[in-house]
Amino acid sequence: MLESVSKIHNEIKDTGLKDLIIKLDHVAYRVKKGEREKAMVELANLVPYKDYKTFKVISMNAITSTLKLHETLPVIVVSEGLTNDSIVEKYVKKFGGRIHHFAYLVKDIEKVVKIQIERGVKFTTDHIIGSEEEGIKQIFTLPTEAANHIIEYVQRFGGFDGFFTPSNVGALMKSTEQLGEA
Ligand SMILES: [Fe+2]
Repeated sequence: MLESVSKIHNEIKDTGLKDLIIKLDHVAYRVKKGEREKAMVELANLVPYKDYKTFKVISMNAITSTLKLHETLPVIVVSEGLTNDSIVEKYVKKFGGRIHHFAYLVKDIEKVVKIQIERGVKFTTDHIIGSEEEGIKQIFTLPTEAANHIIEYVQRFGGFDGFFTPSNVGALMKSTEQLGEA
């Protein structure tokens, strides 16, 4: 057992986060322009994934498809930019095709974010994106240093099973632009 991890785990438990953060909801890849289908085929060749839903993020010049293994979570989300100036394509030019974020389902996102801000965690936006009416609320942390990927907290309402609303995915993607990581 790593003492440093146990210490953080106990700290997290004391804040109440242990009961608020439930499970992995989706894993999001960003891949090169023109390689979304290739990435999906590669994954489907290794794991019996089935094609689930595809979304076009017009404001960000990007397209996002999703894969599901049986009816289990996490859903696999694969995005590609459609133009060279798309945030997704700029990200991939810098880091290569890879995982961009892991999204964790939470119970009370306001509470989670409040606790984490108090603990010094930094987010890519100063507010939570989405609303109860839209069926989803989400926020991105800054990328982790050692593994350089983002953690997303996501809360769902009324059985909404998408990964963003068309109105907020642009804002969410846009929020990563200031990181110098876009
Ligand atoms: Fe996500």
